[in-house]
Amino acid sequence: MALVVVCFLVILVIFANVSKISVSEPNLYTYIPEELVNILEDGCFLGVNDRASREIVEIFLSLLQAFANERHVTIGRVNLENFQWPGGEHLKIDGIDCKSREFTEHSACIGPIPNVVFFAKTSIDRSCLLSPSYTKLRPRAAVISGRDLNLETLVEYVNGKCQTFRTVDGGLLPAGRQKQYIVDNVFNVSNVSNVTMEMLYDRGGVLDLAFTQGFLSDRSSHRTCQKEGCMVNERAREEEGGGGYLEILQCKIINSDDIGPEEFFHEYIKQSRPVIIKNAVVNWPAWHKWSQEYLWEKYGNKTVHVKLTPGGDFEGVERAELWEDYEQFVIPDTVMKKLPYPDLVVVRPAGLNVKFSDFLNLITKAAQQSIRNVSAYLEYSSIREYMPELLSDIEEFAFVKDKLTLRHLNMWLSDGNTVGRLHFDPFDNFLCQLRGKKQLLLFEPFNNSRLYEGHIPQATLHYNHSDQSFRRKTLEDSTSMVMSPIDLFKPDLKRFPNFKSARPLTCTIDEGDALFMPAFWWHEVYSYPNVVEKRNLAVNFWYEPFLLKEFPCPECKMDVNPYYFHLLY
Ligand SMILES: *[C@@H]1O[C@H](CO)[C@@H](O)[C@H](O)[C@H]1NC(C)=O
Ligand SMILES: *[C@@H]1O[C@H](CO)[C@@H](O)[C@H](O)[C@H]1NC(C)=O
Ligand SMILES: *[C@@H]1O[C@H](CO)[C@@H](O)[C@H](O)[C@H]1NC(C)=O
Ligand SMILES: *[C@@H]1O[C@H](CO)[C@@H](O)[C@H](O)[C@H]1NC(C)=O
Ligand SMILES: *[C@@H]1O[C@H](CO)[C@@H](O)[C@H](O)[C@H]1NC(C)=O
Ligand SMILES: *[C@@H]1O[C@H](CO)[C@@H](O)[C@H](O)[C@H]1NC(C)=O
Ligand SMILES: *[C@@H]1O[C@H](CO)[C@@H](O)[C@H](O)[C@H]1NC(C)=O
Repeated sequence: MALVVVCFLVILVIFANVSKISVSEPNLYTYIPEELVNILEDGCFLGVNDRASREIVEIFLSLLQAFANERHVTIGRVNLENFQWPGGEHLKIDGIDCKSREFTEHSACIGPIPNVVFFAKTSIDRSCLLSPSYTKLRPRAAVISGRDLNLETLVEYVNGKCQTFRTVDGGLLPAGRQKQYIVDNVFNVSNVSNVTMEMLYDRGGVLDLAFTQGFLSDRSSHRTCQKEGCMVNERAREEEGGGGYLEILQCKIINSDDIGPEEFFHEYIKQSRPVIIKNAVVNWPAWHKWSQEYLWEKYGNKTVHVKLTPGGDFEGVERAELWEDYEQFVIPDTVMKKLPYPDLVVVRPAGLNVKFSDFLNLITKAAQQSIRNVSAYLEYSSIREYMPELLSDIEEFAFVKDKLTLRHLNMWLSDGNTVGRLHFDPFDNFLCQLRGKKQLLLFEPFNNSRLYEGHIPQATLHYNHSDQSFRRKTLEDSTSMVMSPIDLFKPDLKRFPNFKSARPLTCTIDEGDALFMPAFWWHEVYSYPNVVEKRNLAVNFWYEPFLLKEFPCPECKMDVNPYYFHLLY
């Protein structure tokens, strides 16, 4: 999934019609451009020109107090007379015609010297390793009129631009108190479970998660049991009589009839807390209508894009050297330096455009085991785009409809023997199970150094239709930003030791149920077929997330998405 971070560079300049007397005021620190570059990587800056009048400096002393407790807002002085960014670039001000308004021969684009400047936080494009370093992008400026130059309007201005909720005396507005409360009270697995991955690996517990569900067992001959983990698991089973069996923390389960929109918002969305909603979809028309025959009739001739892998394993991480073009493939040095695990690749499944009826045949044959080595998956297939008539058969949940904004609505269909490897999605998710079930292993998104978040190069499998074989053929010049390099079945704990302290949560979505999975929770997904229909069918709603985080950035914190500030009251 390619994600774009939009640039957000704003500078505000405030001109005031006052005489320029130099005032020295010890409490207001004068920042030099080099320091501003660092400050702006972490937050915004409101600065008063060194030569501004005493009245304006007085206002700034009050501003300093008002934002004293905001880590991401800096208030200070700045010398705009001779302002030059490191590297020599001059200060540019929005709305000033560079050609006609020159004030010194060296500073071509600054115009009249302003009294007050505002710099927004530098937006970092974390998505593209080839893009120029963000420190080279210098912020520009804009202007507000002199009559707005008082404490109240400046506090309001900074609040609007820096996503803060301060009052003139440094207190928090009610919305700010609520935002703080939300951030301080996110659901925390450590508060309710002591079980770490290290403990589970010591006892084979992770593998039990899969094996107790019967998953992989019938395919194990060509997949799982070749891995060491399998033996660990068998040993653990033998020892089971000795007690000490560990329970992974289970997802909370609620009934859709028992919860109202406000309660759901407070208990789950705001707390970023995963929860299973029982019988959430049994009243959808789709529950009865979407049989294999019905879908065939309606969309049989439609071309769909499906994903194929040899063993039902979707998007794991493996050694790059296993790939055919490894020797020829060159990654530019500048990119290489930014890759935390340059020897690994995310394995993307092969893609194939087929008639929907052919896809249905393929999964039927796979279920009957007349095809053994090909697993086909209709993954995140947009219902709105490809099958809009089906929209009337499903419903958004009442408890989110008026709160969150829907971004994507997808269908997922397979023979029900698939794994989606450990990753996160930047959306609040309602995953709704129409046939078969899914079991997920989740990890909270609050300390991603444990999951080793980062850019990992991608590679795409090639599929040969005539002999149904796969080749590890193409290393791509793109990276994935949402996959963990950790193989749950065979973790390299020497290389990824922090994973030992991660605490898992497991959620099982039975047929007819839905899982609310907040954005950025890491998850590995095991799918199982409905025993009669031999398929797994799910629909998911991806919403603009309530809590947001920059990524890849293991140390970045989650915070309330500014898009939803209107929901803070
Ligand atoms: C989890 O525990 C920490 C530390 O004990 C505490 O500050 C926090 O409020 C707890 N969170 C919840 C949601 O209970
Ligand atoms: C979760 O709780 C633990 C201890 O209970 C605490 O150390 C940690 O900071 C908490 N994490 C978050 C994101 O609140
Ligand atoms: C974690 O383990 C400690 C020590 O065994 C125990 O006192 C505590 O209650 C446990 N906490 C949880 C959340 O299970
Ligand atoms: C698919 O196309 C064929 C040939 O055009 C047609 O005979 C058949 O009725 C179509 N099937 C469906 C389900 O629309
Ligand atoms: C299926 O995979 C197994 C193990 O990788 C291999 O031995 C066998 O030849 C494959 N069968 C086909 C039909 O490709
Ligand atoms: C696909 O497999 C067939 C049969 O083994 C082979 O003849 C053909 O060259 C393969 N195609 C490609 C593109 O590798
Ligand atoms: C994040 O997890 C690592 C590994 O367990 C730990 O060393 C580090 O202190 C944690 N950081 C925070 C902020 O909790």
